[in-house]
Amino acid sequence: MSGIPAAELRSLCVHAGGHEILSGVSAVFHPAEIAVLCGRVGSGKTLLAHTMAGIRRPQLGTVRLNGHRVAMIFQDAGHGLIGETVMDDLLFAAASAGIYGNEAKTRAISLLTETGLEELSERYTVTLSGGESRLVAIAGAILSGAGLIIADEPFVNLDWPSVQTVLRSILRLRDIGASVMVITHEVEKVLAHTDHLLVIDSGKLVLNRRFTREEDISDPDRSILKNAGIRIIGSRKEQSWL
Ligand SMILES: Nc1ncnc2c1ncn2[C@@H]1O[C@H](COP(=O)(O)OP(=O)(O)OP(=O)(O)O)[C@@H](O)[C@H]1O
Ligand SMILES: [Mg+2]
Repeated sequence: MSGIPAAELRSLCVHAGGHEILSGVSAVFHPAEIAVLCGRVGSGKTLLAHTMAGIRRPQLGTVRLNGHRVAMIFQDAGHGLIGETVMDDLLFAAASAGIYGNEAKTRAISLLTETGLEELSERYTVTLSGGESRLVAIAGAILSGAGLIIADEPFVNLDWPSVQTVLRSILRLRDIGASVMVITHEVEKVLAHTDHLLVIDSGKLVLNRRFTREEDISDPDRSILKNAGIRIIGSRKEQSWL
């Protein structure tokens, strides 16, 4: 994958219900990075994700994807599954990467096996639990070859092994060069692996910071997080859930 940004947001303003919800949001997302977007309930995170994915148009400003395709894992992940069965869904995802037939099926089966989902292969997607839907959606994102993957609240209502499965999938997406944006209230679950932290408060970006792998969060940044309603305890390294 090229070094060209996976997404560039320039001065985005987005309205919903007749009000300006997002104001002047500018940010750049790089390939092979894990960005985490956090902020209070109702601060505009999902609206920003939908604007980046092209589901919603900004009133002002631009989203540039530089030819990258976007895969969106919705807050309610079941909404994003389009296949009748899990295998159908994964074959659709592979097709969007130009992979068909036996090769697509082999890749889908091996991905399901790696993520412990092989028993779900022929299940109707409407019968999946919330956590299962999310894991299938993430497997689809891996197969789709999308350059930008946005996961809206991927850790909600999961047991620890499933949090680990989601984390491993996110790390794998970064390894294959994708830009991953994780929206979460459970920042501690992904903080040890975060390259880029964005905090939104009342529709404005109040923190947009990149870290090296070794770097901890500075005290001024901790204050910004606290003021935006996000509680971080301990160092970044202490937070690994793997
Ligand atoms: N279609 C709509 N009509 C009216 N208001 C809307 C609409 N969509 C979003 N909003 C409002 O915009 C604000 C931002 O919503 P958004 O869903 O982006 O929040 P969020 O940060 O994702 O919150 P959460 O953490 O609860 O998921 C909220 O106050 C929400 O009520
Ligand atoms: Mg949301």
